[in-house]
Parts: sequence; structure tokens; C-alpha cells
Amino acid sequence: TLKQYHISEDYGFVLREPLEDLPPYYQPWMEIAKNVTELIYSHSLRTRVHEMPLLETELLQDHRELRLAHLALSIITMGYVWQEGESDTVKVLPRNLAVPYWCVSNKLGLPPILTHADAVLANWKRKDHPHSEINMENLELLFTLPGGTSVHGFFMVTLLVELAAVPGIKAIPQAINGVNQGDVTTVTEALKSISLALDDMVEALKLMHDYVEPSVFYGIMRIYLSGWKDNPSMADGLVYEGVQEEPLEYSGGSAAQSSLLHCFDELLGVKHQGSSGAFLMRMRSHYMLPAHTHFVQHISRCRPSLRDFVLEQGDEALDSAYKHCVARLVAMRNYHINLVARFITQPASRAKKLRLSGVDADEENSAITQAPSALETRGTGGSGIMSFLKTVRDRTRALSDSPS
Ligand code: ALA
Repeated sequence: TLKQYHISEDYGFVLREPLEDLPPYYQPWMEIAKNVTELIYSHSLRTRVHEMPLLETELLQDHRELRLAHLALSIITMGYVWQEGESDTVKVLPRNLAVPYWCVSNKLGLPPILTHADAVLANWKRKDHPHSEINMENLELLFTLPGGTSVHGFFMVTLLVELAAVPGIKAIPQAINGVNQGDVTTVTEALKSISLALDDMVEALKLMHDYVEPSVFYGIMRIYLSGWKDNPSMADGLVYEGVQEEPLEYSGGSAAQSSLLHCFDELLGVKHQGSSGAFLMRMRSHYMLPAHTHFVQHISRCRPSLRDFVLEQGDEALDSAYKHCVARLVAMRNYHINLVARFITQPASRAKKLRLSGVDADEENSAITQAPSALETRGTGGSGIMSFLKTVRDRTRALSDSPS
């Protein structure tokens, strides 16, 4: 069943063996996308985009071709919009970029902005032979953005989290079948696999500290991941020229675009509400590949629910496996909150102090003082990041508090 949802036995939601090149006709896109960082630093990306030919998208049929095209056009678009920082943005994405980007996005069912499905799931290759183990040292990005090795670190550590989750994803159909067949042992085993996978995901996340520099992440990288919805520096949205005259609003990249925690939430019965629930639902409905959205929806519609099954059975081992799994999911969310404190909240308050003191910043600190003010307390996806993450964590924890 995983296959029908475009989920791989080996790679989960990660795109297996992404293409590295498009047919030669698309060279103009690839050349710009491959050099986006340099073009941003030399302030010449916008000019290059204006000179780009308007290409047809008919030649792109294969899924992996479309993914590579979407990734390349997304990278160009983020660079184009944010080339001059938050104070000199654009109102219009020019036709020769906007029109093909729109077409490719429609074919895939992705929004016309850089998403997790692009920057993480489809933006990788192995450095050495095709079957070697995947780890930080032999992973390479296909496209990068300003921020040097920290960009590689941020996207590739996130990729390793996706891969660490794979045994947990494979346990989901097992859990659902177990519930349907009233098989307590199978469900218990599946829950144990998911708990282990959640622990492995946290282990992978820890690598963030070794591979991402907080001042670079905060001061340089984040703006290129941010979007034109819920963003004061792009309050009017963006006109996709040749697509429609009214501006459109799209959220920037967010971990909420990864299907992983949506799947585990639905399986375990975590119910999100209010504005955080709405944000998660919007990410699920419009910022994931449709096949992956369908998998999350499939889990959410299973009856009886796994939670009801656990409550009805009153089996001690099953009960404790369920509670343990919820606790591991809470731990994963707590670790994410810690990362946000270190990579966003702390640099933000350091930047504020530096600004107030008026002292000239050294090199490391100068990066953080350049950070866009719009993203001080917001995630790149536009949420009020800390309160969002804590609400979502608390809703998860509530599952184990409630009387059974
Ligand atoms: N969503 C992450 C952030 O806010 C990438 O920076």
C-alpha cells in the first residue's frame, strides 16, 4: 500500500534517486539555478531572470523531471524575491519565470514556492557510488542558497530525519491492519517500531548542532526560506505575471510540510485545534505532494481508530506501548522547540541587544544583525513559531493525560 502513495520502502517520503539534470532545452533554468548564490551576492540574479527565455513545459512529463524543474524554479524564485533583503522586495514575478513555474506546480500539485518536498526531499545526491550508505559526509545538495555549509547542514540533517523515520512509516500499515484484525500483538509491535523511529529521528536532529551555525541560519539563511503570506515584508503577496493579475500569497518553508508528524499524529489520535490546527491542515492540504496528503488522510479515516482500539482492549502491554509512543512524539517536539530556541530565539535576542548597544558587531554578530525583522518571532512558514510549537506539543501530551 505504501507504493500507491508514492512512499518508498527504503526512502519513505524522500524522492529516491532524484534526477540531476533536465533535457538540454532547459539549460537556461539550470544554469541560473545552479549559480543562484553567486548571482544573489553580485546582485545580478533579477537581471539574469529578466533575460531568461520563456520556455515551454510540455517536454517535462516524468515525475522526477517535474520535481527537478520545480526545485530549480523554486530556488530561482526565492533568490529573485529576496535578492535585496526584506526592505527591497518585488511585487511581480516576471512572466518567463512565473508561467512555467505555475504549469510545473500544477502538474505536481505543489504550490509555486519552495517547499520541503523540493529543498529536502528532492534536493540530494550521493557523492560516491550509488549504493553507498547515506550519511552527512557523502550527501550533496543539488541546489543551494546563501549560507554556505550551513545550508547543506540544514537540508541534509532534515533529510536524515526523514530517512530515520522510514521504519516508523512502514509500521503504520502494520498498525492499521492489526487494529482491523483485532491483533493486539501486531499493533503493540508496530507502536514499538514507531517509538524507536521517533528516537532515531531525534538522534538525527541532534546533528543540527554540528552542521548548522546559528548565526548563519538566523542571519543569512532564513529569509530565502520565507514566503509571501503572513509576512509583513511581503504583505501584498506576489503577482505571478501571465498567470493572474491579482497577487497570490504562499507560505514559506516549514517542518509542518513534512508528512511524518502528520502521519504519527493521525495514527495516535492527536487532535490539533485553533490557529495551529488550521496552519497544520493548510500545510497538509496544499504544501505536500498530493499522494502524501492522501496517505495522511487515509490514516485519519481508519475506523476503529488506533486510540479507540487501545482503550477498548485494555491490554497492559498495548497500553504501555501506546503511551510510550505518545511520550516519544512529545520528546521529538520538545527537541524541535530546543532547536528553535538555539537557532532563532537566542540569536534574535542577541541581535536586539547589539542593536540597542550600538556597538559595532564582529563578523559572527554582523550576520545576525542583518536578519529580517519580520522573522524574529515567526517561523519561515509564517506561524508564531514558539507558541505554535508549544501548542502542538501540548496537544500531543494531552493524549497521555486524558483518562482512559
Ligand atoms: N521554519 C524554520 C524557520 O523558521 C525553517 O526558520
